[in-house]
Amino acid sequence: MRDGRPQSQGRGQCYITRVTRPDAIVVQPAGRVAGCIRVPGDKSISHRYALVAALADGPSSIEGYAPGADCHATLQALLHLGVPISRDERGALTVHGRGLGGLSAAAGPIDACNSGTTLRLLAGMLAAHPFTSVLTGDDSLRRRPMRRIITPLSRMGARIRASDGDRPPLTIAGAGLSAIEHAPDVPSAQVKSSVLLAGLHADGRTRVIEPAPTRNHSELALAAFGASVDCHDRVVSIVGGTRLHARRLDVPGDLSSAAFWAVAAAALPGSDVTCLEVGLNPTRTAILDVLARAGAAVERTIERVEAGEPRGSIRVRAGDHRPLTIGAVEVPAVIDELPALAALATFGGALNVSGASELRVKESDRIACLAQGLRALGADIEERPDGFHISGRRRLSGGTADAVGDHRLAMAFAIAALGADRPSVILGASSVDISYPGFFEVLSSLAR
Ligand code: S3P
Repeated sequence: MRDGRPQSQGRGQCYITRVTRPDAIVVQPAGRVAGCIRVPGDKSISHRYALVAALADGPSSIEGYAPGADCHATLQALLHLGVPISRDERGALTVHGRGLGGLSAAAGPIDACNSGTTLRLLAGMLAAHPFTSVLTGDDSLRRRPMRRIITPLSRMGARIRASDGDRPPLTIAGAGLSAIEHAPDVPSAQVKSSVLLAGLHADGRTRVIEPAPTRNHSELALAAFGASVDCHDRVVSIVGGTRLHARRLDVPGDLSSAAFWAVAAAALPGSDVTCLEVGLNPTRTAILDVLARAGAAVERTIERVEAGEPRGSIRVRAGDHRPLTIGAVEVPAVIDELPALAALATFGGALNVSGASELRVKESDRIACLAQGLRALGADIEERPDGFHISGRRRLSGGTADAVGDHRLAMAFAIAALGADRPSVILGASSVDISYPGFFEVLSSLAR
């Protein structure tokens, strides 16, 4: 199943209630979570398969494409750039690739909505197309830093203007690009991917030297479509000009979505949750190691590898609540799971996160807004410039937490609320649709 619906049946009791206030949900405390589910397709892989397929020669078929709003924004952007995309009755996409350098100018600004991945990766592709494009997004995306892609793409030969020099909208005048060697200051898969997608069109070999390893889905996707990509330690390179061939691909389930159920299972005594057909790429599985370190019983089984992406099942059962420390070295590998791990710490462990100032420039300021929301639910959390400390000694009272339109905060607050003394209200609950439509229905079916 790819619609995020659980396989197991709920017990008939409703653990969530939509309240009359627009966009709010009440989450009831739960004793445990149990069941066997599939999660929606991986968001990062979906973006990449669609974008790279658009540059291939001929029609590619993509099954299990992520159903959330972020990945929809990528498809809309490609449609505006002259890429025909159709969906069959089973939901599989066909992306009719236009060939390398084959995108057409959009009639107006391209709206990446809330999706940083859409904007940054597309910027790399558009830098190589000989027309002017404007890339913009919602209020959250228009606050996010873009200097990190403007610098390397300008060095390659594109002309890029931004609001305040750093924020979207970006106006990109594409050009014939030259290969560069780029060493970003921050570990970022989006920056690496933006430069690699530009490098795919450039003269010569483009190299990115990463300060720390980040998810490698772009490298794998580009190689799967026939690009000449090479990875050694932290150096990733691509030779420009190779034509890409169309492919049939299947997106595995999103481990960052499964992480919320894994955390709930680790948190509530007696819990036992299995997620099937989930992506188990080693650049994404650090969350499972961290949960085991926190005391949970974690099993993972790789069942097959497609286009370089391992997939299989995970099973998580509750155990002890050991204190956790996550520092700068580990942060890039769990960057999207830190809100979920913060929720876990409210169940009795403790969590100290440092070296994570990147969290301040995600869909929200994920340090300040996480602290504010968890505190509103009764948590003992101290905000720091580059992280936070949570002492899980105090059981949550329950309360009203505002997700400020950030999907991962909405889901983290909902999981934390399962352990509270009384029902909690999550404001901005519909933001889960960014990555996980149906999240609250699944919550309702797993909670006991
Ligand atoms: C993503 C990379 C990460 C991550 C984001 C998705 C991607 O961002 O936080 O949710 O798909 O490449 P950075 O690469 O900017 O850290």
